[in-house]
Amino acid sequence: MAEAEVGDDWYGDDPTVIRLQERAAELTGKEAALYVATGTMANQIGLRLHFKGTGHLVVAEAGAHVATTEVMTSAVLSGIVYRTMRGDARGQVSADQVGEALQPDEYYDVEMIDLLAAENTHGATGGNVMALEDLRAYRKLAQDAGVPMHLDGARIFNAGVASGVPVEDFCAEVDTMMFCVSKGLGAPIGSLLCGPVDLMREARRIKILVGGAWRQAGIMAAAGLIALEDGPKRLHEDHARARRLAEAVAEILPGSIDPGSVETNMVLADTERAGMATLEAIRRLGALGVGTTIQSRRVRMVTHVDISDDDVETAIGAWREIVAA
Ligand SMILES: Cc1ncc(COP(=O)(O)O)c(C=O)c1O
Repeated sequence: MAEAEVGDDWYGDDPTVIRLQERAAELTGKEAALYVATGTMANQIGLRLHFKGTGHLVVAEAGAHVATTEVMTSAVLSGIVYRTMRGDARGQVSADQVGEALQPDEYYDVEMIDLLAAENTHGATGGNVMALEDLRAYRKLAQDAGVPMHLDGARIFNAGVASGVPVEDFCAEVDTMMFCVSKGLGAPIGSLLCGPVDLMREARRIKILVGGAWRQAGIMAAAGLIALEDGPKRLHEDHARARRLAEAVAEILPGSIDPGSVETNMVLADTERAGMATLEAIRRLGALGVGTTIQSRRVRMVTHVDISDDDVETAIGAWREIVAA
């Protein structure tokens, strides 16, 4: 990062940013990519590209990041309203649900659907993988309805590693997609929005419009390039560590988690079912040096490039201690 060759990202001439964008486009099989500061910014620009009119609808699963954490941002920046579908415990919806949600408002002709948004892996349910054949089925329905698709692939490389499906194959089913180099892949900052050249040109305009042209961003993009090179090769280790952690927590606090439900790098433990308040568990784990957060009233733990086998053992020890107490 210290040695990164830099330019000015406003002008689009930062050589390291350009290299990162080219590499991202290559890996996702898209024509072009745009480097932005956050996953939220990448999604928001992506949604905006397809969005035709204020008050129009974006169809998404109810727990999707765009329809929850980003619901206010979507409304404020683009006037987006969501039509949501209720997914199963893995955050997945059936093709029938998608078909129904995409139904045109034939009689009244008032509810306009501009976009179908998908998420892989599904974050809120704990990093569950959307099967390629499901995505293909949604794509077919969207195409029949004349609706484009955006993929929130914040953790698409985790999905790729867990399923054995090349990331490119998932990306081929959508018009635009984004992924974060800042999550499991290990860079400190940054996300990439990927899609056709003409849309990415407009995306760059919107990025500048919202103040996202971050000058000598090559310093960060250099870390993004390393994350893209080394990250995917080691994500299977994160998944194995998450599974190990889940198995141990299941043993320590029976009923809190089904280790079989851990598909990638997230572990959600339901301590309330075992009689311990979630926030209390988080507080006590924190006091023992184990950082966790809350998700859907469960204790959320994530494995990533900075979490070693020893760290997992430390976390397991902390769980043992809080349960014994
Ligand atoms: C599925 C998903 N999409 C988008 C984002 C947004 O990324 P960022 O936090 O970089 O804005 C997140 C963040 O956790 C996420 O989990």
